[in-house]
Amino acid sequence: MLFVPFCGYISGEMRKKVAACLAVIALLGQPVTSRPRESQQSLDRRVEALLSQMTVEEKVGQLNQLFYFTKFMKPEMVEPGIREGKIGSLLFLTDPVLINRFQKVAVENSRLKIPLLFGFDVIHGFRTIFPVPLAMASSWDPALVEQVQGVAASEARAVGVHWTFAPMIDIARDPRWGRIVEGAGEDPFLGSRMAAAQVRGFQGPDPASPGHVLACMKHFAGYGAGSGGRDYDSAYIPDAELYNVYLPPFKAAVDAGVGSAMSAYMDLNDVPATGNAFLLRDVLRRQWGFKGFVVSDANAVGNLVTHGFAEDKSDAAYRALTAGVDLEMSIPTDPIANAYATSLAKLVQEGRVTKAQLDEAVRRILEAKFKLGLFDNPYVDESRVASIHNNPEHRRLARVAAQRSMVLLRNEGNLLPLVKGDSKISSVAVIGPLADSKRDIRGSWSFVDDVNSAVTVLEGIRAKVGTSVKVEYAAGVDIGRVYPSMFDIMTGPRPKPWSEPQQRAEFEKAVSFARSSDVVILVLGEHEEMSGEAASKSTIELPGQQLELLKTISGLGKPVVLVLINGRPLEISRAASNISTILEAWHPGTEGGNAVADILYGDATPGGKLPLTWPRSSAQIPIYYAHNITQEPETKKGFTSRYWDIPSSPLYPFGYGLSYTTFSFSNLRVSKPELRVGESTEVLVDVENTGRRAGDEVAQLYIHQRYGSASRPVRELKGFERITLAPGQKRTVRFTLGKAELTYWSAAVKGWVQEPAVFDVWAGADATASLTTTFRVVGAK
Ligand code: NOJ
Repeated sequence: MLFVPFCGYISGEMRKKVAACLAVIALLGQPVTSRPRESQQSLDRRVEALLSQMTVEEKVGQLNQLFYFTKFMKPEMVEPGIREGKIGSLLFLTDPVLINRFQKVAVENSRLKIPLLFGFDVIHGFRTIFPVPLAMASSWDPALVEQVQGVAASEARAVGVHWTFAPMIDIARDPRWGRIVEGAGEDPFLGSRMAAAQVRGFQGPDPASPGHVLACMKHFAGYGAGSGGRDYDSAYIPDAELYNVYLPPFKAAVDAGVGSAMSAYMDLNDVPATGNAFLLRDVLRRQWGFKGFVVSDANAVGNLVTHGFAEDKSDAAYRALTAGVDLEMSIPTDPIANAYATSLAKLVQEGRVTKAQLDEAVRRILEAKFKLGLFDNPYVDESRVASIHNNPEHRRLARVAAQRSMVLLRNEGNLLPLVKGDSKISSVAVIGPLADSKRDIRGSWSFVDDVNSAVTVLEGIRAKVGTSVKVEYAAGVDIGRVYPSMFDIMTGPRPKPWSEPQQRAEFEKAVSFARSSDVVILVLGEHEEMSGEAASKSTIELPGQQLELLKTISGLGKPVVLVLINGRPLEISRAASNISTILEAWHPGTEGGNAVADILYGDATPGGKLPLTWPRSSAQIPIYYAHNITQEPETKKGFTSRYWDIPSSPLYPFGYGLSYTTFSFSNLRVSKPELRVGESTEVLVDVENTGRRAGDEVAQLYIHQRYGSASRPVRELKGFERITLAPGQKRTVRFTLGKAELTYWSAAVKGWVQEPAVFDVWAGADATASLTTTFRVVGAK
């Protein structure tokens, strides 16, 4: 059967071009047939046959995964272990030559010739960097997300990476948490759609099919709820919130066939996730029927001791394995690493871990290796790497993805889109510490791309306007930071902070360029390593002297466009009142600068929407739209504020984003105003482009259950669709509300319920939509 990868969903002509080119490349370059899938019975036979030949030590070896850092490790540090069958998997290797070298040792020189599994964090691209996941979620376009992760998978698989530690699908409601950048934001419905799309993209029809990888949903579970937004901090999540908010994206990933899961680092309700049998056995396996394998996060098994949970490393190995962690991920140089490798054999000998428990874990790893086709085809074709990585369609897709994920936050006075060739704009000042930063346009977890190939905002604008417009650039301020990043070791440290005279000179230069230009493009935000792992912040203020720059530039009386490059919402209330035009670009990836220019100059129309509630200030955190209603609801007449000093509303609501055109929603109706428990109704709404340009709107559907055994959120997203409409065009968007959407986990009942009740429905362009109707659910017959 001919398999054409990524014949995807990006709109119109572009989709056809991308699909056609990728199909040709597939035909020319690689075996385009998927192997017929082996039956479970035959797979089981092969796994059991192998298992029966293995010593306990070899079994333990299969449960041992080690980091290999090419920069400071030598092959001799792992080759003996591979030869002796003591290492089952390596991560962080991306050099195909080294991958083949190590694989050769495993499949030709080890006793049982079991291939190694190579893993890597392919989070939002590999050679081609796509927008960060939070940005991709802002596209509200699961088909695009699937396509993007398909390309990322193909680039990773090209070097011999079989397995990605993605998607990261932790719900995050505290933007101080650095890892908010890696997920899809605050909402379980949007998060679930994004989770499933990513799994489909990475794994394709089958992770063994050409150009695909095994996906790993992470971090199971509750990692986004760490206290104070501090990374790794304990999470306390009541059952109802766990089932209704934090777990749904994981369930969606399991339903989409995800092949593996990573246990989280932190304590969940006092039990570390890596030793948490409730999560790993009750929920994951018993309730959801997950068949893949579970890997620990790095050193998380040994850290069960650090957490004050396990007595020692051996106890940690016992607790993790019996809780359901199959594979231990270790940083080999760390003293708490290798708990399985050092303790499991003895634990089996002593009878504390049974042979059946050990076999259960090993079986899952072997099965994954068989399913990935590694026993039949362990090596990677080094000669094909360049052609796959240099595929121009990947960059084209990166540009489209970046355009579609940007969110226009403000455009009062319609300064945007700028018009190319506008005689009133003969000079543009591009100002800001992120305006010409190749490193920061990409976002965290960008380790394998060529940073020099990334396009900055300055470069994108220059390429767009050509030589007829004078473009001047000054960084203005240095962002600086208080602590180094743990990723400096991979990416190199930042240049030294500016001296005082340099700071003054740069600031003055920026102001003078701004003063003498017709338009200012001010590019502010955060360094790429300011979000991501171990990158939490106590506030979401603009770091460094950027606010001062913003104040000065916005006070010059010039038209200013603020472009934000960042991985979390930032405190921009001042900007929001002083600057009439704001574009959220996130970390938009390799083609980010071109995409920003496309949007600014109207070659693309913004259509992204916020996947989170944007606070006015850090003081409002946590803030999310799907909160329960208090006795003083915001809708009550005379309601002032939850706080004495600031409004309770966010700066921008969940789902918000503008376009260069306008839309109206009308005629909201339900097909069945009354339905029985278990039945479905359709909800229809007409969306019309009321402006003069073609553009995209994301039609969003929210519901509220008015009463029941437990209080329900004031609104919950239950449907969305991103549509493109020509000027004057009207379309009816249909949603279905049925059992899945109307069921929730009730703290009163301690279980899933669908209850008879009246439901409010809203449809519109964000979580504050006002077009509303109701329907009633009555008891089953
Ligand atoms: C630690 C991170 O928490 C996890 O997300 C990542 O996949 C592993 N390190 C491997 O890099």
